[in-house]
Amino acid sequence: MRERLPIAVLVSGSGSNLQAILDASADPRYAAEVRVVISDRPGVRALERAGHAGVSTEVVAWRDHGDREPFTAAVCDAAERHGARALVLAGFLRILGPEAMVRFPDRIVNIHPSLLPAFPGTMHAVGEALAHGVKVTGVTVHFVTEEVDVGPIIAQEAVRVLPGDTEAALHARLHEVEHRIYPEAVDALARGALTVAGRAVVWKEDP
Ligand code: GRF
Repeated sequence: MRERLPIAVLVSGSGSNLQAILDASADPRYAAEVRVVISDRPGVRALERAGHAGVSTEVVAWRDHGDREPFTAAVCDAAERHGARALVLAGFLRILGPEAMVRFPDRIVNIHPSLLPAFPGTMHAVGEALAHGVKVTGVTVHFVTEEVDVGPIIAQEAVRVLPGDTEAALHARLHEVEHRIYPEAVDALARGALTVAGRAVVWKEDP
């Protein structure tokens, strides 16, 4: 069997996407292995989930670094200490500086709860989609570049907005999609099945 790609999953909160990746990686055919879970804050549920799965954790607190550059360096150092060769952002509420893209080129991915380029930004995509009155929103998995939420798109799936939807109800349906497509995208990355060609990401099924 081929070697699995060691990854670091970066979190700030509940970690349900982390859980989906941990569950998928329980299958030995899954191409990625979670080596470490890195949080920018202590005490979050995602760290508990990592603990239950027997995965190492690190807290790299923003306040200990004070600025984006030293914070980014500390996150990359923590990932590398555990042998990770890709960064998987799963509800991570900090923006990484350019050093991360240099140290993990085409190896940083994120999931976002809208159909980018609609409703970018780390905090309010679901509420903004509802407030805008869109009839369809969705989920995007993309490569992380220096500019927030504009990196090459790896996968997208639409979710209908229903009459009377609340932010919580809509986010719950978005999460269901996320938990399916994010582990698949991370597996494809780890298998070497994703090629970035300009803005486009091409999936090869059999690398
Ligand atoms: C997800 O909706 C993801 O798209 C966004 O943050 C949320 C994280 O949820 N970036 P969880 O922590 O994985 O449950």
